[in-house]
Amino acid sequence: MRVFINLILAVAAATASVSAVAGEVAYPNGFRQWGHVKSMVLKPGHPLYDAVGGMHHIYANAKAMQGYKSGKFADGSVIVFDLFEAVDKDNAVAEGQRKAVVVMSRNARAHKANDGWGYEVFDARTRKGSLDAKAQADCHACHRSQQEKDFVFSSLRD
Ligand code: HEC
Repeated sequence: MRVFINLILAVAAATASVSAVAGEVAYPNGFRQWGHVKSMVLKPGHPLYDAVGGMHHIYANAKAMQGYKSGKFADGSVIVFDLFEAVDKDNAVAEGQRKAVVVMSRNARAHKANDGWGYEVFDARTRKGSLDAKAQADCHACHRSQQEKDFVFSSLRD
């Protein structure tokens, strides 16, 4: 009996740690060295200003760069939306303070509920993520409109 219970505990522990790790979106260390997809400035009046107003750059790791080219993002693809205050000064618009590091990470098994995409918003200073399952589902509710592009809005240009 004791062996049986220990076995159950061991299996439960292994399952719990696997799903916790697989379901987590990690901070994307070194992403400013990845592929650059695009940059954009959202000004007051844009419908997404309250959520992501300012200047953003989108970066993709090697797997995600392949995904942009093929239209299908494999597990391990990571895309970063790097968000800054847009500082409009002396007739130039530049990056100000970083506001957040916003991430999509592909893992079909871990993020089944959102068609395989994990969503996270990292605090610019502490690098801690903040999204719960409901907030992640809210991200995906909008990204779902891009289903024919595997749920990704942006595109690579020549
Ligand atoms: C109301 C719609 C909407 C919601 C909600 C939304 N996004 Fe997006 N997201 C966009 C749009 C539009 C773009 C493209 C921006 C561009 O072209 O520069 C985008 C781009 C991205 C990108 C870059 C990859 C891509 O799809 O181009 C990431 C990463 C991202 N969003 C993460 C998130 C996360 C995390 C959340 C939830 C906190 C979220 N998004 C919520 C509309 C949305």
